Amino acid sequence: MQSQNKKLRNAVITAVGMYAPEKVMDNKYFESIVDTNDEWIVSRTGIKERRKMENGATSDMAALACEDLFRTTNVKPEEIDVIIVATVTPDMFFPATACLVQDKIGAKNAWGFDLSAACSGFLFALQTGASLIEGGSYKKVLVVGSDKMSAITDYTDRNTCILFGDAASAVLLEPTTDLNYGIKDSMLFVDGAGKDALNMKAGGSALPSTEETIKNKLHYIYQDGKAVFKVAVKGMADISYEIMERNGLKSEDVSYLVPHQANLRIISATAQRMGVSEDKVMINIDKYGNTTAATIPLCLTEYYRAGKVKKGDNLILAAFGAGYTWGSIYLTWGFD
Ligand code: COA
Repeated sequence: MQSQNKKLRNAVITAVGMYAPEKVMDNKYFESIVDTNDEWIVSRTGIKERRKMENGATSDMAALACEDLFRTTNVKPEEIDVIIVATVTPDMFFPATACLVQDKIGAKNAWGFDLSAACSGFLFALQTGASLIEGGSYKKVLVVGSDKMSAITDYTDRNTCILFGDAASAVLLEPTTDLNYGIKDSMLFVDGAGKDALNMKAGGSALPSTEETIKNKLHYIYQDGKAVFKVAVKGMADISYEIMERNGLKSEDVSYLVPHQANLRIISATAQRMGVSEDKVMINIDKYGNTTAATIPLCLTEYYRAGKVKKGDNLILAAFGAGYTWGSIYLTWGFD
């Protein structure tokens, strides 16, 4: 929670960038590998296709998203102070993916770290980056959401394989003393009691990799879809409504809801609770599926580049994910 009246500066997004791999996996493709069909996938999830990174890792996608961002700003990689990479699919346990990205983009004066909060990762990273800027010590923070979900997806499990895709997206945070713009409020939560409903069980210190863990497919995403669906609907809808309420925002004051893209039905329920009409909801789940930490900045980048986001627009970002983790951020867009 932030105490707004004591702030000397806000962190504001000043540039955006994205990378989506070229290879498209449409619903027809999944009909050919598991017992499913296009109608089921579209009606239950809203997904029509997703992308797959065939050659390269999470850090490669992240670096490409950052390079895309740098093409649109005068800021140079060597001016970056901090790189935060939100991901659940790091290239390896260590070093952190942020280190690999730092090297790939030539951000030679930056430090950085990875942040693991699954589908809420971008929101947690954005608030962390904002706090570093608000504290006054850092002026340029790159916040990246990058996930190569195909690396941990079991393509024989129809319950999960149709949901996820690969992508990366990045935003640049800088300080502004005009408190009308930038990140104004955040409400972020975890509840570790949700750990059994959505996880990847093996490969960590609890269950190191063995022949047995591989045989039992414990290095893939496990999800109890129904259980997660129930808490995700409530979690995302409630938090988005609460952040509006505590900032005195009416539905007509909200320019866009920017929801994590896990399921169109969860997104619709959130918009309904906020009283926000469909045309004010950023959606690209049909094209990319659930790209975990990348969904929200991917939406921001695409809508901004389509000329749909303007300086002064009030955005409510909202996410729910494994952990459980969930939250919402209220910001006012700071550039045209
Ligand atoms: N194609 C066809 N049928 C499928 C299928 C697929 N790809 N996947 C599952 N089914 C079947 C199930 O086996 C089940 O069959 P059964 O009733 O014979 O057992 C039936 O469809 C209904 O499954 P269910 O899990 O109840 O579907 P659902 O309506 O809950 O939708 C999800 C499944 C995964 C789309 C949905 O639960 C969901 O989106 N969950 C939350 C995801 C989320 O927000 N995660 C957090 C962030 S990552």
